[in-house]
Amino acid sequence: MPEPFNPTYPPPRAKLDANESPYEIPADLKERVFHRALGARFSRYESSLENELTEAVADYARVSPDMIVLGNGSDEILHLLAFAYSGPDRPVVAFRPSFETYGAAAELSHAPYTQVELRPPDFPLDMAALTEAVSRGDAVSRGGAANGKEAGLVYLCRPNNPTANLCEVDEVRSLVRGTRAMVAVDEAYFEFAGSTVVPLVDRLAPNLCVSRTFSKAFRLAGLRLGYLVAPPEAVEKVRAHKMPYNLNHMTVAAGLVMLEEVGRLKGWVAETLKERERLEAGLASLAPAVRPLPSTTNFILFELPGRDHNKVWETLRLRGIYIRRYRGETLLDGYLRVSVGSPTENDLFLEELRAVLQA
Ligand SMILES: Cc1ncc(COP(=O)(O)O)c(C=O)c1O
Repeated sequence: MPEPFNPTYPPPRAKLDANESPYEIPADLKERVFHRALGARFSRYESSLENELTEAVADYARVSPDMIVLGNGSDEILHLLAFAYSGPDRPVVAFRPSFETYGAAAELSHAPYTQVELRPPDFPLDMAALTEAVSRGDAVSRGGAANGKEAGLVYLCRPNNPTANLCEVDEVRSLVRGTRAMVAVDEAYFEFAGSTVVPLVDRLAPNLCVSRTFSKAFRLAGLRLGYLVAPPEAVEKVRAHKMPYNLNHMTVAAGLVMLEEVGRLKGWVAETLKERERLEAGLASLAPAVRPLPSTTNFILFELPGRDHNKVWETLRLRGIYIRRYRGETLLDGYLRVSVGSPTENDLFLEELRAVLQA
């Protein structure tokens, strides 16, 4: 879970802890969002705008509108999937370390949670072990005995947060073919990775779906918009657990405007990738005290060999440099995660990290 608000820390000078965009959406786009929202009736639940957004999202994902569910952030989608596909007799399986919401969602649906451990120092994505755990259903489970129970749901984060690596498309295909469990591929960062498994989501293959978000490449974290791409039958199943009118008119307006600007989005992604290269090189220049892992996305996991990562994190925090640590995750002892920020933020972070390591 993200660090709770703590008044002992100064406000961030560089906020690099949540993989958000460092940039606000441009003023002309923001104006268009307000303009569009002005035309909506705030007094009505009104779903016509939402239908329009469903079509625009379907167009962006290159699927038909009956394969889309819109969510209040992709977090909501991940929770809906757990309600639809897991439960006390249907365990959830995921890698560890991976995105924490998977465990929280499993808990809410009272499902045993089976985690397949990735191995430091590089955390390669062991798809064979994942496949085995899914079919066997008896790997070590937290919060209940998964023993012998067939998995109901697999969360596969692609690229994986926080390790920033990516499994192969063919590996996903084999996983889906080898199980009856719903395989939910979390593509929150796919725009940065330039790779997707959406073309594998087949109207006739009932057990693959993909969740995505507007919070990262589209810069809309504060407005909460995510979506699911799934076969129509799964769409119905997931929708059955959704609150009616889960999106507000402002969010829908913002989604519509952003999807008219996909050309600009490509430029933003290219800028982030360029800046990631610079950040990676900056971290690598601090070797052997720092070892960045290769990244396919807008954040970098790095190791601090032989250092107390909590101490480094704490000192940076006291200097207004916010990055991510994983309290209680023993596999990530000695590791921290930094988001790609603006050039100024990245330079500030590198400068402060260098100073902390030399102290
Ligand atoms: C892998 C992954 N999935 C999903 C999300 C949730 O995104 P949101 O709820 O903002 O759409 C995040 C956010 O950091 C994430 O890292």
